[in-house]
Amino acid sequence: MQSPSRQIQSSQRGVHSGLPALIRRHQQHAWQKPVQEVDLPALEHLDSALESHRGAVVLDSFCGTGQSTALLCQRYPDALVIGVDKSSHRLSRRPALPENGVLLQAHCEAVWRHLVERETQLSAHTILYPNPWPKPGHLGRRVHGHPAFPLLLALGGALELRSNWQLYVEEFGVALSLLGYPSRVATVPSEEEPLTLFEEKYRQSGHALWSLTARIGSPARTQITQDHA
Ligand SMILES: C[S@@+](CC[C@H](N)C(=O)[O-])C[C@H]1O[C@@H](n2cnc3c(N)ncnc32)[C@H](O)[C@@H]1O
Repeated sequence: MQSPSRQIQSSQRGVHSGLPALIRRHQQHAWQKPVQEVDLPALEHLDSALESHRGAVVLDSFCGTGQSTALLCQRYPDALVIGVDKSSHRLSRRPALPENGVLLQAHCEAVWRHLVERETQLSAHTILYPNPWPKPGHLGRRVHGHPAFPLLLALGGALELRSNWQLYVEEFGVALSLLGYPSRVATVPSEEEPLTLFEEKYRQSGHALWSLTARIGSPARTQITQDHA
């Protein structure tokens, strides 16, 4: 067994008090970072994969080595399954993928924006063990605190987030509820085959693993209400 992984340490005790204002700001001001040159080859690869496929699309954001992408290819044999990670090191350890799978080295945020611009809707979207950014000052680096979060939601689909930090998952759920999307939080059943290398490592280290699921369609309401603000 590899050396045990440490539990997440954070001075943050509950959902970040700055979350509603941040979500509101990102809802009102679109993310405008120009496309980075480093992402261009992946976006071109994405275009050609989408052009030769007319069916459902599944996205595996922050896919690491792509182990989960390979499992999703089996789970959704008729879908195009796209794994995205920015790390060439992680992706160099990629497994062989079935024909319906594609791995892209890119920033997920750039891929979300590109898919939104192409008006692509996802059937399913997994976000498995994103970097937790546990310092309170790093709220803006968490997926739900990032200015590209509205793009992720615009892609729709059955969303699953997993983390070994319960507060991250709960905070993500609060971010969704501020935008009118209900979600459900549960522990990941320990008898399930690990979906990813990090999941396997955390499980071997005895961590509780948390899952949030949500169906991202039309929100019940789109404006943040005063009681949340
Ligand atoms: C903790 S690892 C989890 C990887 C994989 N999902 C797993 O569970 O084994 C987080 C991954 O997110 C990737 N990452 C972090 N920020 C990213 C970004 N903005 N776009 C794409 N990948 C990113 C890292 O390269 C890393 O592989």
